[in-house]
Amino acid sequence: MESPTLAKPKESALRAAFPVLSRKVHGKPLVYLDNAATTLKPAAVLDAMDHYYRHGTANIHRGIHTLAEEATAAYEGARDRVAAFVRASSRGEILFTRGTTESINLVAQAWGRGALKPGDEILLTGMEHHANLVPWQLLRDATGAVLREIPVTEAGELDLGALPGLLGERTKLVAFPWVSNALGTVNPAAELVRLVRQHCGGKILVDGAQAVSHFPVDVGALDIDFLAFSGHKLYGPTGIGVLWGRESLLEAMPPWQGGGDMIKTVTFESASWNELPHKFEAGTPAIAEAIGLGAAVAFVEETGWETIRERENELRRYAEPLLGAVPGLRLLGAAGERAPVFSFNLPGVHPSDIGALLDTEGIAIRTGTHCTMPLHARFGLSASARASFAFYNTRHEADLLLQGLDKVLRLTR
Ligand code: ALA
Repeated sequence: MESPTLAKPKESALRAAFPVLSRKVHGKPLVYLDNAATTLKPAAVLDAMDHYYRHGTANIHRGIHTLAEEATAAYEGARDRVAAFVRASSRGEILFTRGTTESINLVAQAWGRGALKPGDEILLTGMEHHANLVPWQLLRDATGAVLREIPVTEAGELDLGALPGLLGERTKLVAFPWVSNALGTVNPAAELVRLVRQHCGGKILVDGAQAVSHFPVDVGALDIDFLAFSGHKLYGPTGIGVLWGRESLLEAMPPWQGGGDMIKTVTFESASWNELPHKFEAGTPAIAEAIGLGAAVAFVEETGWETIRERENELRRYAEPLLGAVPGLRLLGAAGERAPVFSFNLPGVHPSDIGALLDTEGIAIRTGTHCTMPLHARFGLSASARASFAFYNTRHEADLLLQGLDKVLRLTR
């Protein structure tokens, strides 16, 4: 199929920033459509990490030699970048973690264990990634709290009509994904926050793992209490993530892990805590990864939200009807607001076979439950295939996906 391209010269320059895009898989150019699992890394991120290891390896906050001071400045500089990126009111509100999963576990343990009593309620949604469900199940088991759920409609949206009835004085926390990793649904975060604040005094945690690569975030304007996200879904490395928390909450929370750097003084009997954010960063952190995340944030800012959003919206509008026209293809969810993420099934073809056959064409997608088993159960499915686009993808790649699905249908019928 002939397709017009998006602004060509810019497109090739954008793609040239990502070394992996020049590789072949099974003799075909890589078509990387697994961006919701992890995004590709621009050379700027790889270079920043390489520079640290090659020219300046040192631990941070500990030495006074040149390399240690440079490493500390680079690591704390990355924190400043992230703080500005989410519009935090202070750098102390930015905690580096291993990723979204660890950020949410940190809140569940350090905040939840002190805040919840038996019968208190945690309100989640029916579209949670397991990372925003299992930590709360563990907390429920430890405290006697109760989990409740905002239902998901057939269109893959949250049933906001049910929300007021689910909120009350027992609601101590509401946690929801800004963007569903399986459906692409962009939940109306501002409206959700408004309703929660209107009906209860519970804290609000946003799982931003799938949001921060798609649009800008302003935690103050959103009026939430915690935001969790990962570096590797934001063009940065794995092993680094962020928990943004309201300063007053973080100040009141006990540390989560003990060790070096998170203390002010230690005797054999006891210890006192370092100031924010160090209170929550025990031990040598992921220094190179934090520096890589800082470079990723700079890369996103240099690329510009307008470019990213325009291209992703255009790709979504282009790919959606193409997928919808594949005979028998069932697309999960049809939310009005969505990221370019498409989970789907083909009748009579196991999602693993879709993934394996597309791989022979050099096309990378994800198959399985995408860490959302309850959501798949909601749609009566045990698995699906998922194609997720990023701004560096092209219409031509959407066409190749369609050709690949044609082949899957031919070979399996
Ligand atoms: N959370 C990642 C995904 O959705 C791994 O694929």
